[in-house]
Amino acid sequence: MGQQRARRSVLAVPGSNPRFVDKARELPVDTFFLDLEDAVAPAEKEAARDTVVAALTEGGWGDRTRTVRVNDLSTQWTYRDVITVVERAGHALDCLVLPKVTGPDHVRWLDLLLSQVERATGLQPGGIGIEAQIEDARGVTEVDRIAAASDRLESLVYGPADFMASVNMKSLVVGEQPPGYDTGDAFHHVLMRILMAARANGLQAVDGPYLRVGDVDAFRASARRSAALGFDGKWVLHPRQVEAANEVYTPSQEDYDHAKLVLDAYAHATEVRRRGAVVLDGEMLDEASRKMALVVAGKGRAAGM
Ligand code: GLV
Ligand code: MG
Repeated sequence: MGQQRARRSVLAVPGSNPRFVDKARELPVDTFFLDLEDAVAPAEKEAARDTVVAALTEGGWGDRTRTVRVNDLSTQWTYRDVITVVERAGHALDCLVLPKVTGPDHVRWLDLLLSQVERATGLQPGGIGIEAQIEDARGVTEVDRIAAASDRLESLVYGPADFMASVNMKSLVVGEQPPGYDTGDAFHHVLMRILMAARANGLQAVDGPYLRVGDVDAFRASARRSAALGFDGKWVLHPRQVEAANEVYTPSQEDYDHAKLVLDAYAHATEVRRRGAVVLDGEMLDEASRKMALVVAGKGRAAGM
């Protein structure tokens, strides 16, 4: 099972823009990624590596999880992204984000390359984790094998922008429901596929970006849907999305208190009264209720409740 770090809010930071990198140090996000992929123009790809290395080695990131998104494996940049960033800043890096993963071979390739660079530079073997972005039809159909491809995997990340484009979804607003599909959630299938593959392999599941950054209520509605399914967090693109993500992926105080009540009542029932089920305020509780309460309590504790 990969490391379970807080990933309620995952901030996207263009790796080619030092001003955004500085701003990111002030935001209360759980995780950030310095992007070498789609937020960086082709002409800036190589210079962005230096900016990213400097940002990591200069530090100032507190307890945020530090990650870098490299370019995808269909490009000429990926191997040098990995080698440059890990050789020069591997000691200040927690994970790499691999985009557009379409099969387990992509993850294994990165695992092997990381092992080599770690060995060559004296970094802790296996110390750098992997987050795999699932963002097209092939990634979705292969997601179970992808999720089982490496012990370094920590999370699967949904990429709605590339996904919507790859399946010809009739929408131009990334993360938003496509007009004309009015009766359900057009992303339900892919979110559940990712969540099932992640949980079956002890990984976290992270929802992708919502691009209409001026509409926090719409961001919140999108986050609520994946949080309700069980997702651990969501990408944020703008400071005003950060607080909403931290709130939506943290249990409410009411749910947290209720979970603790369930745990106490169930412990009393099984340990003192030797019963496998108990009624609390008109609700029947059994071992499965205890497990559900443990999830809520665990998420609350991780968020400092
Ligand atoms: C993120 O990479 C996306 O494609 O949504
Ligand atoms: Mg993408």
